[in-house]
Amino acid sequence: PSSSPSSSSSAPLSPVILTQDELKKIAAYKAVEYVESNMVLGLGTGSTAKHAVARIAELLNQGKLHNIIGIPTSKITYDQAVSLGIPLSDLDSHPIVDLAIDGADEVDPFLNLVKGRGGSLLREKMVESSCRKFVVIVDESKMVKHLGGSGLAMPVEVVPFCWKFTAMRLKALFEDSGCVAKLRTLGENESGGVPYVTDNGNYIVDLYFKKDIGDLKVASDEILRLAGVVEHGMFIDMATTVIVAGELGVTVKDK
Ligand code: 5RP
Repeated sequence: PSSSPSSSSSAPLSPVILTQDELKKIAAYKAVEYVESNMVLGLGTGSTAKHAVARIAELLNQGKLHNIIGIPTSKITYDQAVSLGIPLSDLDSHPIVDLAIDGADEVDPFLNLVKGRGGSLLREKMVESSCRKFVVIVDESKMVKHLGGSGLAMPVEVVPFCWKFTAMRLKALFEDSGCVAKLRTLGENESGGVPYVTDNGNYIVDLYFKKDIGDLKVASDEILRLAGVVEHGMFIDMATTVIVAGELGVTVKDK
């Protein structure tokens, strides 16, 4: 349940200062220890998940893993997995996923997540809500007290049709939290930039909050009730394990 605290364990890393990318890699490699032969695996998206995908390919090539089927959560992960020779399928053919490994943008103390700053939230949510075990891999900068409280984006995937209207309604939902709703764009020009288009042909409206958004399940239901919204980036009660790599060590938090 979203109100129960998680357990944790820790192992010290070396005294050398590690880069953020090295921490991401450490978390990713730790998560791949959960992978066993004959598994259907959800392959996440982003700069952390790509280390896990590369490690899975390496173990397959070394003959240490066999008969893995990957379900990619984005076109970019599909391309990476194909280039590394990981056998792939989809949810139509493999609706039950044994284990998914993915990064996150924010993790709260109850292991609820914000995902989708990389734009792949819909496919990620489809794959990760169909899995038996969902291991999230982050460096310690992603840990927050409240989702949406970091001042960074809470992404919502919306259909392009009248997206301004949908953005207006999203903003109105969170008026009390000082919400600002912005269309995600690729670069800026005089007319405001070209919209970022997801793998599913949709747009993303990023929500920014000045104050706590309150009960996450209520917020989730209210967002999903709006016509024009496809999915949002809150992943509530989905992670079964979060692996956090920090300067002081790797912490494994289990739900
Ligand atoms: C992509 C995601 C990513 O998992 C999330 O943005 C974290 O990315 P990174 O590992 O690059 O920090 O949700 O849609």
